[in-house]
Amino acid sequence: MTLTNKNIRSEKEGQIGLVRLNRPQVLNALSCELMDELVAAIEEFDRDDEVRVIILTGNEKAFAAGADIKEMSGEGTVSIMLKDRFATWDRIRNVKKPIVAAVSGYALGGGCELAMSCDIIIASESAQFGQPEINIGVIPGAGGTQRLTRVVGKHKAMEMILTGRPITAREAHELGLVNKVVPVEIYLEAAREVAREIAKKSPLAVRLAKEAVLKAFDGSLTEGLVFERKNFYMLFSSEDQKEGMRAFLEKRPASFTGR
Ligand code: CAA
Repeated sequence: MTLTNKNIRSEKEGQIGLVRLNRPQVLNALSCELMDELVAAIEEFDRDDEVRVIILTGNEKAFAAGADIKEMSGEGTVSIMLKDRFATWDRIRNVKKPIVAAVSGYALGGGCELAMSCDIIIASESAQFGQPEINIGVIPGAGGTQRLTRVVGKHKAMEMILTGRPITAREAHELGLVNKVVPVEIYLEAAREVAREIAKKSPLAVRLAKEAVLKAFDGSLTEGLVFERKNFYMLFSSEDQKEGMRAFLEKRPASFTGR
């Protein structure tokens, strides 16, 4: 099943929900309309019980070259605040299923922030990541100062955000921003591969694991550890935990039902 909206395409490939940004004429610049469609498609896959993992991708040339500068250029503080464009972005944080970003070409500004809002990033050798907002007199607005700093550390984040200079996929990999770098011909397939691997696991355990890992980015370590422990204990009332552990002991593959 393929659904084509104005700015995105979404299709279901078995247990994978694939969403493609589709505004190639402007390097997938993230207009408000595109973000509305994108988040709606992701949320639909999040609700679909058949889908286990969501993949978000662009095209070979661009994952996304940032928020739509044309759309923002006439805004003032009050108008941009009242439009509340980041409310849509906030909804990505509430997605329960893992999201794998398959990134090729430009992942700049909002594009880099969108990739960082995902849970795993697979990059093609041609991918480049950057926060060039400083070059147009603004700063990242969709979480870049927070997420990039947590991933690559203060000094590298400062360098990227203050100079606006992008980094290559290889550098991003060395910094831990990217999980894997592969030739451009196979970047989407490499994302599918990791998605298929996750799709075999208990969806309940995957959901609670994602929730717990994200908690590490929120608040204190103490709070994160308590939260993680609560989710860990909670899984012990699921059938999947019983089945998973039994299957291990019986040396056979587990058959998970999500209960
Ligand atoms: N918004 C709107 N349009 C964009 C765009 C963007 N972010 N990025 C590219 N485009 C458009 C260009 O205007 C151009 O359109 P026309 O053909 O109508 O002129 C088309 O896409 C192709 O772009 P270029 O001709 O510039 O392509 P290039 O290969 O020469 O350069 C690039 C590629 C280096 C990515 C360059 O396009 C660029 O610097 N883009 C802007 C990157 C940027 O500053 N991103 C941050 C945006 S602000 C932000 O994201 C805020 C936030 O935190 C949410």
